[in-house]
Amino acid sequence: SRGGKGGYAFYMEKEIHEQPDAIKDTVAPHIVDGKTSFEAEGIPNSFFRENQNIVVIACGTAMHAGLIGQQLFHTLANIHTDVAVASEFTYTNPVIKPGTLVIAVSQSGETVDTIEAIKYAKKKGAKVLSIVNVKGSTISDISDYCIYTHAGPEIAVASTKAYTSQLTVFYLLAIHAARLNGLVSEEESSKFLNELQRVPEVIGQILEKKEFVKKMTSKFLLSENAFMIGRGLDYSLLLEGSLKLKEISYVHSEAYASGELKHGTIALITDGIPVVALVTQSALASKEYSNIREVQSRGASMILITRESLYKDMNIPEDDTFILPEMDDMFMPFPAAVVMQLIAYYTSYTKGFDVDKPRNLAKVVTVE
Ligand code: AGP
Repeated sequence: SRGGKGGYAFYMEKEIHEQPDAIKDTVAPHIVDGKTSFEAEGIPNSFFRENQNIVVIACGTAMHAGLIGQQLFHTLANIHTDVAVASEFTYTNPVIKPGTLVIAVSQSGETVDTIEAIKYAKKKGAKVLSIVNVKGSTISDISDYCIYTHAGPEIAVASTKAYTSQLTVFYLLAIHAARLNGLVSEEESSKFLNELQRVPEVIGQILEKKEFVKKMTSKFLLSENAFMIGRGLDYSLLLEGSLKLKEISYVHSEAYASGELKHGTIALITDGIPVVALVTQSALASKEYSNIREVQSRGASMILITRESLYKDMNIPEDDTFILPEMDDMFMPFPAAVVMQLIAYYTSYTKGFDVDKPRNLAKVVTVE
């Protein structure tokens, strides 16, 4: 059952384990006769015609889900997509043209920054589609259309299953848009959907190796600072992984696009500093290899998260490496997300913190 902590030490641990079900339940209503469908929500297909602009607005973890969504809309559907931090949105005079679709993302549906941004966008004439977890919340009420994530109640302040459920909706939407625009064939689109339906099982495989992640995280325990490096989808994913670590374990962590390191940040890589490198994208692995060498030569203490097919060239000991199950490159954020959640969880847990209620943070942020 989803009530209580179900034998886990903290809600966060329980919610990490609920992800296979959350994703299954989020996917199920949107595959009808083997094809993507948003008919039940009444979402017009015209929303996803080429040349339409999408602006994702959200805060924190939900915004990070949007950053992955942005890359999916670009890669699959050729739709220009911006991602805005909701609390900044109204101050930047965003350009809302006819045909702009705002996608608002929120677990609680009550985050005031996101609510204000939605109201502003609507006044400027945008249509608003929201991705929300809590039924009947303010954001689902004020949006033109709402797609629910079916993660169930999320109690831990640190968002986990809501995030991967939000990612799931973005994958479904991007595949849907690509299909409607004729950019992927029906065969390709069903190949993608099959891969998406493998995610719950793949997450199960990660959870079986959680004790290994616990061992790996000892690197963070004595350190006040950490860095995380990656490119493309890996970078977007690390922004979330880094937020998770900061939020509950109080390690000051910075996620950096690997190519940006040499533009300043590498000055901060000194002897013994933990650096997490996430390498899941085949096309980017050789560039990442050089970035890993750069930080290693400055004494970084490495944790590598990669996949078998990319590991052999990386020159990092097995004890410091988590090998992710193989999936199509585009779907690698799912297994990677779960490893990052476990890293944050075990760091906080081992340090003896109240994982579910980190200091100074509220689950629902109702002040601007
Ligand atoms: C996630 O771990 C954070 N607690 C926080 O960033 C959260 O995602 C953000 O406040 C947005 O909340 P919402 O999804 O309920 O709108």
